[in-house]
Amino acid sequence: MHYKDNENITIMEHPLIKHKITRLRDKSTGTNEFRALVEEIGMLMGYEALSDLPMKDIEVETPIEKCMSPVIAGRKLAVVPILRAGLGMVEGILDLVPTAKVGHIGLYRDPETHEPHEYYCKLPNPIEERTIVVTDPMLATGGSACDAIKLIRQHGGRKIKFMCIIAAPEGLERLAKTYPDIQIYVGQLDRQLNADAYICPGLGDAGDRIFGTK
Ligand code: PRP
Ligand code: URA
Repeated sequence: MHYKDNENITIMEHPLIKHKITRLRDKSTGTNEFRALVEEIGMLMGYEALSDLPMKDIEVETPIEKCMSPVIAGRKLAVVPILRAGLGMVEGILDLVPTAKVGHIGLYRDPETHEPHEYYCKLPNPIEERTIVVTDPMLATGGSACDAIKLIRQHGGRKIKFMCIIAAPEGLERLAKTYPDIQIYVGQLDRQLNADAYICPGLGDAGDRIFGTK
């Protein structure tokens, strides 16, 4: 589904994704299962987000005859998780495209101001030639996503897709307005942010639930 006629925003509708998100929401879901679910959703969303990868035909010989058949053209994909929680989605995408390079952007959200702070950035070269899939399970105020994309742009990255499992309307609108030329994939659009800028109903703190910290 395209969100409010914005063709760059895709909200997932697949029953498997919806089911797995419900399991993520449940506060009794433990670290093991939570981590596995985030990875699986990363793969299912990656399948959708990569549906426009460029193709080229190569010759292949079947047991019957030779034919021309399509393969992915080039090896120019980069997956860039926003640390920490974005890491949880990476393996699912690498299951689909094992040759993808992986960059990392470290941001943490100040608990008082809710503003993101950068502590790490390392991107694969040449970043300007790659399709870049940024992963983060949570799009809340949108500050972290916007800062991550700003950093990628500063390094020369152009073709960017942002993938999150749960979005708040506030963050989705901010990201889409700030970067109208990126494609945004959302597992589920939730109701709103609360006073602590947590997503409602959401799933709590994604990083803590993936890594078992608290
Ligand atoms: C969480 C989440 C996003 C960010 C979303 O990370 O994984 O990166 O908050 O909030 P925003 O849209 O308001 O910026 P957090 O800063 O808690 O770091 P962590 O992943 O290391 O736990
Ligand atoms: N970060 C999270 O992990 N969860 C939220 O609900 C908001 C930001």
